[in-house]
Amino acid sequence: MRLHALGTGADLSSKFHLACVCCGWRCGPEFRHRCPECLGALECSIDLRNARLRDSDQPEIAYLDFLPVVAPGFLDSGLSVRTPCRPAPELGAAIGLPRLWLKDESRQPTGTTKDRLASVVLAVFRQFGIKEWVASSTGNSATALARAVLRDQSMHAHFFCGSDFMADHQLEPGDQISLNTVVGGYSDASREAQKFAAEREIAWEGGFFNWARREGVKIAYLEAFDTMPKEPDVIVQAISSGMGMMAAHKGAKEYLATGRISSMPRFLMVQQDTCAPMAKAWQDGRAELTDRDVISRPRGLARAILLGDGRASYPYMRDIAHATGGSIVSVSQRGMEEARRMLLEIEGADVCYSAAATIAALRVEAREQRISADQVVLANLTGRARNTEALL
Ligand SMILES: Cc1ncc(COP(=O)(O)O)c(C=O)c1O
Ligand SMILES: [Zn+2]
Repeated sequence: MRLHALGTGADLSSKFHLACVCCGWRCGPEFRHRCPECLGALECSIDLRNARLRDSDQPEIAYLDFLPVVAPGFLDSGLSVRTPCRPAPELGAAIGLPRLWLKDESRQPTGTTKDRLASVVLAVFRQFGIKEWVASSTGNSATALARAVLRDQSMHAHFFCGSDFMADHQLEPGDQISLNTVVGGYSDASREAQKFAAEREIAWEGGFFNWARREGVKIAYLEAFDTMPKEPDVIVQAISSGMGMMAAHKGAKEYLATGRISSMPRFLMVQQDTCAPMAKAWQDGRAELTDRDVISRPRGLARAILLGDGRASYPYMRDIAHATGGSIVSVSQRGMEEARRMLLEIEGADVCYSAAATIAALRVEAREQRISADQVVLANLTGRARNTEALL
């Protein structure tokens, strides 16, 4: 469905346009996810010539010039907060990387970095006049989006959730929100959600392919780059679809282009051994995932990254790993347990297994000498634990 900018069309076009990351096809600002020529992901290309950081506690206002949002009035204050980015020399020393930094996204209001995407996605919806839409998630995105919906009485959202992930959704269905359960996991829920949206001709939020999501989570990385006295050599984050890492890569490209950082960090993307289709394909040197890579009902401690079907987004992750000299790895359940305990005991950081997976991966990379002790490493702790992830 094509939805054109309402009212403020001219302003929008002067701020950004959409471009296909695969073939370069371009169009003006509209809520469209994929390239009509090659189905590639669209990314918003923002005019950064006069971009500057503003003085504001609200992250989206501080970084407004870097976002596809034309006016502060489209944003709802209080959906996300700036989070600490701090050195962790003790934990770093314990894993062989003393120049470790932690970006603590578990401090966001609903406990994950997804509050950042909720803020920008809702602003973009308001900008395009979209008031009713459909989304699906493993829990954290829907929880963050639902909170944002409840703060705007004109919004209505339909969430689809796999039955395996019901307990990971902390949202109250009501007048503005419906929650539909689909037998299975995230991929099953996503499929049903898209069908529902098409049948009723309402907007499909888009998940990985929603460029507004990526613009929102990008801010966590811009904040980190602006906080760190020395820019990171390596960035590490847990991946499910890889939306967060794609966002980080875009932010890093923008900061490189505008001279705010001087070189592209290596991107280390982390899955868990029980659900690691992308890490396996990367290790095999494969360009794509096939039907045989799909895990229909994935299980594992890191619940937020249990996406069994990574076919649509893997090629983007592979390209980023290649382009940055990075890698896609998987960590063991035990590795995550140990890392989570170390984060709590050494750093006082009570985070979820997906966040702890970053430290588990770094430990292995340092031990195998693929990252050296002199490297500045930034780990994004993307969330805190929900009731489904009690520390064992
Ligand atoms: C806590 C947490 N970490 C990491 C991710 C990674 O997701 P993605 O790769 O789709 O951005 C998610 C997604 O739900 C999450 O909730
Ligand atoms: Zn294209």
